[in-house]
Amino acid sequence: MLRQPLLAAARSPRLRSVAEKSRFTRPVVNRFVAGSTEDDALRVTADLAAAGLLTTLDFLGEDTTSVEQAEHTVRAYESVLAGLADVTGTGLADRAEVSVKLSAIGQALPGDGERIALDGARRICQAAEKVGTTVTIDMEDHTTTDSTLGIVAELRQDFPWVGAVLQAYLHRTEADCRELAGPGSRIRLCKGAYAEPESVAFSGDAVEDSYRRCLAVLFGGQGYPMVASHDPAMIAAARSLAVQQQRSPDSYEFQMLYGIRPDEQRALAAAGHRMRVYVPYGDEWYGYFMRRLAERPANLAFFLRSLTSKK
Ligand code: FDA
Repeated sequence: MLRQPLLAAARSPRLRSVAEKSRFTRPVVNRFVAGSTEDDALRVTADLAAAGLLTTLDFLGEDTTSVEQAEHTVRAYESVLAGLADVTGTGLADRAEVSVKLSAIGQALPGDGERIALDGARRICQAAEKVGTTVTIDMEDHTTTDSTLGIVAELRQDFPWVGAVLQAYLHRTEADCRELAGPGSRIRLCKGAYAEPESVAFSGDAVEDSYRRCLAVLFGGQGYPMVASHDPAMIAAARSLAVQQQRSPDSYEFQMLYGIRPDEQRALAAAGHRMRVYVPYGDEWYGYFMRRLAERPANLAFFLRSLTSKK
């Protein structure tokens, strides 16, 4: 019941400004966000690597409204990728990649936003290639799906290892999985985190049914499925498909968000699975954090208390 209002609040610039400026919110947010700085991101990546976990780093930001902001985000990615290389001695460049939201690098800017985002994404891919790692392009609301998949297709011409995210709640996704399950493709399958109309998206149990059908397509295909879910039923379905399709443990991976089911993350890694943690960092945490609240409104009480706290 609270999901839709929370997702609507996630798009409110006013609430975002109040929340991001309040120093009382940060401790609550830090359950889901590695910290403000690149050093925080690299420290958490090293800690996760020491525990046998892979990482994908997300420099927080979305709905960028200026070319300068887009440039700032591209530079942050170039810098953190170079940072991973600097600590290659500890093996981080092969333990960590980056995830990028195209709206953070200009996709929605009027006029030539798509070109700005494509140019920025190319630079991020070049920086990743230089240190020997990969980039996955996040998926945002359904109005951006065609544009995002188009940009991924362009990037893949030069960087065939670029990954895409597909959202099982969209009616179109099973067909997209068929289209994209070819050799070399890296597809991260998630349920989907945005407020979408019934005309384009499933709801309730139908999302899980769709997730299972999409998993079957991806595991039966020739690409590298990335199973992004904390749901034990989805994880069990993926494990049984991996056995059925005789997939080797390095031909797929599980992924979860930083701070959510950390014990299960470690248990999957200990059982010999590739397990990657999505680690956001930076100051523009509001949209990301509100989507986490919408997934589990029980988190909301803690957050509201921190917003109003005088201590
Ligand atoms: P579900 O929401 O049913 O959760 C299953 C269980 O996990 C819950 O019962 C609870 O125990 C735990 N859990 C889940 N969310 C929680 C939370 N917020 N707080 C505490 N516990 C929680 N979406 C998108 O639209 N575009 C994208 O690009 C991405 N990218 C992405 C990357 C990765 C690596 C992951 C794991 C997820 C995404 N998502 C995403 C988010 C995704 O679409 C979805 O909203 C969440 O993963 C929650 O769905 P689950 O499959 O985990 O199931």
